[in-house]
Amino acid sequence: MFFLMYWQFFAIPICAFISLKLLQHYVNGKKISNLHQSESELKTTDQVAEIKENEDSSSDAEEEEWTPSLENVEHVPLIFDVISPEESLKRSNIYYELMNKRRTVRHFSDRDVPVEILHNCIKTAGTSPSGAHTEPWTFVLVKSLEMKRQIRAIIEEEEEINYKKRMGKVWTGDLKPFRTNWIKEYLTEAPYLILMFKQTHSYRQSDGRKKLHYYNEQSICISAGILISAIHNAGLVSLTSTPLNCGPALRALLGRPKNEKLTLLLPVGYPTNDCQVPGIARKPLEEILVEF
Ligand SMILES: Cc1cc2nc3c(=O)[nH]c(=O)nc-3n(C[C@H](O)[C@H](O)[C@H](O)COP(=O)(O)O)c2cc1C
Repeated sequence: MFFLMYWQFFAIPICAFISLKLLQHYVNGKKISNLHQSESELKTTDQVAEIKENEDSSSDAEEEEWTPSLENVEHVPLIFDVISPEESLKRSNIYYELMNKRRTVRHFSDRDVPVEILHNCIKTAGTSPSGAHTEPWTFVLVKSLEMKRQIRAIIEEEEEINYKKRMGKVWTGDLKPFRTNWIKEYLTEAPYLILMFKQTHSYRQSDGRKKLHYYNEQSICISAGILISAIHNAGLVSLTSTPLNCGPALRALLGRPKNEKLTLLLPVGYPTNDCQVPGIARKPLEEILVEF
């Protein structure tokens, strides 16, 4: 009786509560679907795994007591060769001319490369600066044809789905000038593959404690740039590639630990004799430079 007389006092809060719940449900649903939709917002399984791991590691960080990894480092005189401004200008020109000839190559000959050259290029990449000198990189060098075949199988399977379902019309449209698709012959044709893994963190050798790798993304990207220029300087060619959604499978195949994320894969070697590249131009200085 009481309820029937005063039903409107009950109905209004109940309706408001149900509307609020429906709104929350809609917003959450939208967030999840956004996670898989447009290119700019596309989260790959690699990225989702990484976000999850970072969430875990930040809660770890709160629990653990951090101590510096590099303590009491002695400071030593800088080794620095003084050269004249004229010599500097000359060298900067020569280096620019050299680097301006670098191109991404997608057609590799099977001509072999002495492994020492690759070792030197990777050593050069290892000279990169890194956040708090954490050196958050692992380079996996693959020469074994069997391993290259397995890498190719993983990548081609994912790339077919990427091209047909995940990337969408705009992305695949933007890739048309490069004539790429999910068939990656270069993965077995190139004499070497270099897979660059960024380490999100590591463990200290001395006591096994977790070591944070600050700015590991920026650090590995700088190292990759140095590697690409070292490869070019050595008279070889490379292809900077980012196999979408293949990170966990390739990490497992290569036996890398969970704190390492695949960042780039570079086939390295010589181009085929009839190799062609897209006839693209680079932005002039005026377009990329702002000076004050
Ligand atoms: C981060 C990054 C990812 C790339 N991923 C791919 C890729 O997956 N496949 C590919 O064929 N090229 C890839 N490229 C190569 C670019 O298409 C190429 O650098 C660009 O077209 C400019 O050509 P250039 O390197 O010859 O100057 C990538 C380049 C960068 C920097």
